[in-house]
Amino acid sequence: MATVYIGSDHAGLELKAALVKRLSEKGHDVHDLGPATTESCDYPVYAKGVCGKVLADAGNATPGDEPASFGILVCGTGIGMSMTANHIPGIRAALCGCEFQARATRQHNNANVLCLGERVTGQGVALDIAELFLNTAFEGGRHLRRINQIEG
Ligand code: RB5
Repeated sequence: MATVYIGSDHAGLELKAALVKRLSEKGHDVHDLGPATTESCDYPVYAKGVCGKVLADAGNATPGDEPASFGILVCGTGIGMSMTANHIPGIRAALCGCEFQARATRQHNNANVLCLGERVTGQGVALDIAELFLNTAFEGGRHLRRINQIEG
C-alpha cells in the first residue's frame, strides 16, 4: 500500500474528499494537506505543499527508483496543479483523464504525482484512475533512459 499526500484548491475539494475516502478504504496511508473548506484559494500553495512532502520522502532517490510516496493534486482542470508541480525538480506530475494515461505514466514516466481535474473528469473515473496510478509499477529499461533526460 502507498503513502499518499493529497491537496487541492477550492475547485477540487469535492473530488479530494472522495479520493481520501476511497484510497483510505483501500488501505493506503492518505495524508490530506488541505484545504479544508471551499473558500477560494490558490492552487500553487497546495501543489508546493504536496510536492515538498513527496520530495522529502524521496531523499536521494534517482528518477528510476520506485517513489517512496505519491502526490495527488486536484484543481478544476488539473492544469494549474500540473504546471506548478512540473516546475519543481524531482517531480514528474501527470495530468490524467483516463485509465490508459494513468497506467502508462507509471509504467513509462515513473510519475510521482497524479493531477486530476474535478470539472473535467467524472468522479467514478477519477477514483479508478487514482487506484490504478498507485498500483502500477515503473517498467524501467528504455523508459529510464528517457526520464533521465527530462531534467538532464
Ligand atoms: C479555479 O477557478 C481554477 O482556475 C483552478 O481550479 C484550476 O483549474 C487552474 O488551473
